[in-house]
Amino acid sequence: MKTSPIPSWKNLISKAQDLDLSSHEIVHISCFVANLSKPALFLALEDRPTYSQYLEFVSLVERRLKGEPLQYLLSSWTFRSLDLYLDSRVLIPRPETETLVELAISEIKKYSHLKLVKVADLGTGSGAIALSVAKEAENVKVFATDVSLDALEVAKLNSGRVLSQKEQNKISFYSGSWWEAFPGELEHSFDVVISNPPYLSQLDMETIEEQVLDWEPRSALYGGDFGTRDLDTIISNSPRWLSRPGSLLLEIGITQGDHIKELVFKNGFDSAEIIFDLTNRPRFCLARMSS
Ligand SMILES: C[S@@+](CC[C@H](N)C(=O)[O-])C[C@H]1O[C@@H](n2cnc3c(N)ncnc32)[C@H](O)[C@@H]1O
Repeated sequence: MKTSPIPSWKNLISKAQDLDLSSHEIVHISCFVANLSKPALFLALEDRPTYSQYLEFVSLVERRLKGEPLQYLLSSWTFRSLDLYLDSRVLIPRPETETLVELAISEIKKYSHLKLVKVADLGTGSGAIALSVAKEAENVKVFATDVSLDALEVAKLNSGRVLSQKEQNKISFYSGSWWEAFPGELEHSFDVVISNPPYLSQLDMETIEEQVLDWEPRSALYGGDFGTRDLDTIISNSPRWLSRPGSLLLEIGITQGDHIKELVFKNGFDSAEIIFDLTNRPRFCLARMSS
């Protein structure tokens, strides 16, 4: 019996384009399977994948067609300068969170007169925020928490995978619900606290993309009926844990700015600013407490 030869990368990619996938996704999958960069794949388009590469390509395309996010399929995604390992135990870090880190780095610099700036990342998930801060900021000690032991496992794995030993030594991991993760001796010691907590409301959950709902952890998305349950907990307990001066930087939903600002002032902060993301949506709150 004559078996048909394995098609070249060019033919495979063009066949996959007839399916319901974007070219961007097909190229990502091809580069991953071929273990080549985009320019290298371009030069290898006339080559044929090995049989096992061919089978892997077909299997990944089939899984993608069933809705599995590309980031989980490839087990990795780039966040700022980090190539993070990802699976369905953690939220896929979003581009706006890269802006949250940018704001955090700039806020941390305001404390550069301190010998060591203590930074907390509450709800670290994959470790995207904590690890970026450890990599990009000087003289920091990063305290990363999550209530999900699964998420902490992924964050620790990422720390070992993408950080140098010196950068890894800057981070400690704590398990527990929001501030409860920390021992009492850390009261009043955090200079900068960053969090991207779950903030989707019941209505948001009913209207978000099916793919997000089906694949990403609900515990990383749903923030109670109005979406502000976890933000409220973080803000109202922050005076006990922040140093003076101290800064709180939060990622929030686009409709939550007024409520969050009000809550921040009610809890004794001196200033609160709602900051817009690159697509001009109000997505962050930066609050400062001086005394
Ligand atoms: C929106 S995800 C953010 C993950 C990551 N920081 C990022 O920006 O990609 C929210 C994270 O908060 C964690 N979380 C949910 N409830 C929590 C709680 N009560 N205490 C601590 N972390 C919690 C989830 O497990 C999840 O990792």
